Amino acid sequence: MRRHLVFWLQCTAILLLLSPVSSLARPLPQGDPLYLNFVLNATYFPSEDYYDYIVVGGGTAGCPLAATLSQSYRVLVLERGGVPYGNQNLMNQEGFLTTLTEVDTFDSPAQSFTSEDGVLNARGRVLGGSSAINAGFYSRADPEFYESSGVNWDLSLVNQSYEWVERGVVFRPELKNWQSAVRDALLEAGIDPYHGFTLDHLVGTKIGGSTFDSSGKRHSAADLLNYGKPANIKVALYASVERVLLASSSSNVLSRQSAIGVVYRDETGRYHHAMVKEKGEVLLCAGAIGSPQLLLLSGIGPRPYLSSWGIPVVYHHPYVGQFVYDNPRNGISILPPIPLEYSLIQVAGITEMGAYVEAASNVIPFTTPSRSAFIRPPSSPLLLTVATIMEKIVGPISTGSLRLASTDVRVNPIVRFNYFSNPIDLERCVNGTRKIGDILRSRSMDDFKFNEWFGSRNFRFVGPSLPVDQSNYEQMADFCRRTVSTIWHYHGGCVVGRVVDQNYHVIGIDALRVVDGSTFTISPGTNPQATVMMLGRYVGLRIIKERKRLK
Ligand SMILES: Cc1cc2nc3c(=O)[nH]c(=O)nc-3n(C[C@H](O)[C@H](O)[C@H](O)COP(=O)(O)OP(=O)(O)OC[C@H]3O[C@@H](n4cnc5c(N)ncnc54)[C@H](O)[C@@H]3O)c2cc1C
Ligand SMILES: *[C@@H]1O[C@H](CO)[C@@H](O)[C@H](O)[C@H]1NC(C)=O
Ligand SMILES: *[C@@H]1O[C@H](CO)[C@@H](O)[C@H](O)[C@H]1NC(C)=O
Ligand SMILES: *[C@@H]1O[C@H](CO)[C@@H](O)[C@H](O)[C@H]1NC(C)=O
Repeated sequence: MRRHLVFWLQCTAILLLLSPVSSLARPLPQGDPLYLNFVLNATYFPSEDYYDYIVVGGGTAGCPLAATLSQSYRVLVLERGGVPYGNQNLMNQEGFLTTLTEVDTFDSPAQSFTSEDGVLNARGRVLGGSSAINAGFYSRADPEFYESSGVNWDLSLVNQSYEWVERGVVFRPELKNWQSAVRDALLEAGIDPYHGFTLDHLVGTKIGGSTFDSSGKRHSAADLLNYGKPANIKVALYASVERVLLASSSSNVLSRQSAIGVVYRDETGRYHHAMVKEKGEVLLCAGAIGSPQLLLLSGIGPRPYLSSWGIPVVYHHPYVGQFVYDNPRNGISILPPIPLEYSLIQVAGITEMGAYVEAASNVIPFTTPSRSAFIRPPSSPLLLTVATIMEKIVGPISTGSLRLASTDVRVNPIVRFNYFSNPIDLERCVNGTRKIGDILRSRSMDDFKFNEWFGSRNFRFVGPSLPVDQSNYEQMADFCRRTVSTIWHYHGGCVVGRVVDQNYHVIGIDALRVVDGSTFTISPGTNPQATVMMLGRYVGLRIIKERKRLK
């Protein structure tokens, strides 16, 4: 618990009031998918069945992809977790930290992992994936993403796909005290112009979208399943996919391997086979940790490496699990002298110096008395109110890799991100943390200082404060390395151009695609979830069009 607390305090992190938001989203056509008859525990599924599309991972990309394909085809979604609905910590923004700090069991909705860099991280294990455990900030990709991500995007279809997502799950937040103060401070620090509320990625300061609604209730990619065609879609919960089944396509002279289905286990340990019908496909949407892991477990990866695990090699793919990235997060946390509302990320400062600035404010229950804690009346639990300003760097350029820790799919693979191994990333962090220095010196931040003896006013930092001499590059660089944390925007492992082609097909294999954050070579814009959901919708529409054309 302590470690998790420190991990959050280093970077992010107040009060129990909900921030009312006004909705962009129209009411969804039906209720929560929980009440829809197409979402069932995997134990109720037959040991063998046939589908047009098998979506592995009911996450941020998987749900919109499956809902879209179900308009025309029979679709199965295999999700290793349960539903978020009914879980108060997942469904309310105040539960954000509790979800992340919950004791990690084989079925907790947030699965923690620590990279070899020593940074504690997390991924979703629940319908909706990481969008069901995240901080809810919603912002479209930066224009450069479409130019440099290696895909020849149809930009009008991209916009259509974003709009479809936004009608379902995106809301306009109303700023309370901390977020408003940070917005004003960003502008004072020169991150301008001010754009007000916008979902677009624009240099300057803005209020972004949120997947939390006016009552603070979470909406996630799981809600997008409501757009699915109930007669065509089945969602199996607690279905842990172990590998993709591959066979050589006999009709082909070159004898290419083709995905023919998947093997999964339900919560009782029973095996099931889900098979694809003619012209069908297996679509991996298991995320940046899960998708490369599944390709490796299926024999698609670097030959010598797979052999060292005794995994039969189906296709030598040197870059599976390579080019794995995570955006380092650095920043400061303070104890405010005045009560603050609880807030996750709502405003963003988009600089041209290689860094984005965001903020949060949390109430953290504290078990041990601390002299500096914001102490509540004795009858209430001890609460520590913490306000955070953080920066994330653009990119990043530093890259790492992923390898198996076990052939058991439930065991986290080992990942290393090599934060700041590229000096440009370090310079971006120095730029971003210097900006945080400017923000702290702004007039808007003055209210958050304590009156000290002799009339001076100072911040009370929780965790490390910025170096005093912020003009000293070495000291700032050292701060970046020493306080590095994650903003959970890790990506890669099945990147476009190396592992998958422009249309997200696994290169060299038929009927197999990867559609999720593992395909990204750079993190899109300030925060990735908008782009990941858009991608699911986008690829779904493309697949439908493609098949109609082939008919
Ligand atoms: C704590 C946290 C806070 C974040 N905050 C924000 C934010 O505020 N804004 C933002 O834009 N982004 C945020 N992000 C990042 C964003 O949520 C992720 O980038 C995005 O959700 C990744 O989507 P994905 O589809 O690639 O993977 P996921 O959404 O993680 O989906 C993968 C799915 O596959 C399932 N799966 C994996 N392996 C298997 C298997 N073998 N069998 C069956 N199912 C499997 C998983 O259970 C999961 O449901 C945050 C992330 C985290 C973790
Ligand atoms: C599905 O599995 C979960 C987890 O074991 C269990 O809590 C739930 O009751 C099951 N639901 C049904 C309908 O069997
Ligand atoms: C897509 O939407 C953005 C605003 O989000 C707009 O600037 C752009 O021109 C649109 N592109 C197309 C092709 O419609
Ligand atoms: C850091 O900021 C300076 C000053 O704005 C800028 O010239 C430089 O390009 C930035 N560095 C990076 C890596 O973006």
